[in-house]
Amino acid sequence: MKILAIESSCDDTSVAVIDNKLQVLSNIVSSQDKIHNRFGGVVPELASRSHLLAIQPVVTTALKKANVKLEDIGLITATQGPGLSGSLLVGFSYAKALSHVSSIPFVGVDHMAGHILAVLLENTGVSFPFIALIVSGGTSSIFRVDGHTSFSHIGRTRDDAAGEAFDKVAKILGLPYPGGPHVAALAKAGNPESIKFPRAWLGEGSLDFSFSGVKTSVLNHVNSLKQKGKISEQDKADICASFQAAVVEVLVEKTITAARSHKIDTVVVGGGVSANDYLRSEFKRACAQYNLQHYIPHPSFCTDNGAMIAVAGYYKYLQSGADPENTDVFSRSQLG
Ligand code: KG4
Repeated sequence: MKILAIESSCDDTSVAVIDNKLQVLSNIVSSQDKIHNRFGGVVPELASRSHLLAIQPVVTTALKKANVKLEDIGLITATQGPGLSGSLLVGFSYAKALSHVSSIPFVGVDHMAGHILAVLLENTGVSFPFIALIVSGGTSSIFRVDGHTSFSHIGRTRDDAAGEAFDKVAKILGLPYPGGPHVAALAKAGNPESIKFPRAWLGEGSLDFSFSGVKTSVLNHVNSLKQKGKISEQDKADICASFQAAVVEVLVEKTITAARSHKIDTVVVGGGVSANDYLRSEFKRACAQYNLQHYIPHPSFCTDNGAMIAVAGYYKYLQSGADPENTDVFSRSQLG
């Protein structure tokens, strides 16, 4: 069976075709970064309008690249939430309409399930249960995953998500949107120990995350440097490296704590922030230290993409069949 998947939860229009062996036949991403860059963040109305312009050509390109026709598709799936409602509605309505006119079954997918199961695109043998850390622009969450459709949400975002904090720090430093990759690039020239930014542990054993404090601390530090004069490129690099170290330390520690307290020896990391090189190397180091198996997908499967939605849609369909016609989008994750 071949699966056509549409992802439009935020500012990327992505369409993928995979088969039921989880081979990726195409995974097209149309980015809106240039549109939102000058505003320093995603403008919801512009995002939905851009999805509307992109959706048809991206679907056509994905089918063509996969060398399949619509009649070869056995399942249509799309992100149902969480995300920006206007953006979600474009991909979700398009997929439902396509399913209706072609009589191909349709299932809506929780975006988080997509990020969690993206790991299977390159490692079909990952065994359950595992602990998944999902870090993106919209969330920092830890899940206990007991099967392809069995997720327990055991740690969550209390304020700014990790990616959001990266984007806001980038904005404070005058870097382009989305800021994560720019902060990460500048951090390479900086000293991660030069500034001791706060780590929010939120009490012993807590698996929740709070990154608004570290972001405010960066803002205060930048303001005090500005009062003394100009901020040098080295100052910026040191701020990026120290901020990144503070965020990554908390992400790694809490994920390891979750694995050890649940007596689970496999850790999976996903979401846009997991494309970060420093985070990847810190997970490698910490998981080796605690004898944990760990998987982080290729960066192209970490950021929003259709292929991960296809995997989650396929397993949801195997578990519960097609969705009824009266399904709607949602803005909060329904997992666990
Ligand atoms: O998963 P994703 O593509 O979209 C959401 O669902 O949010 O994640 C986007 C987020 C943005 O905040 C972006 O700045 C961040 O992931 N990001 C990074 C890196 N690449 C993307 N953050 C830190 N380092 C990176 N290399």
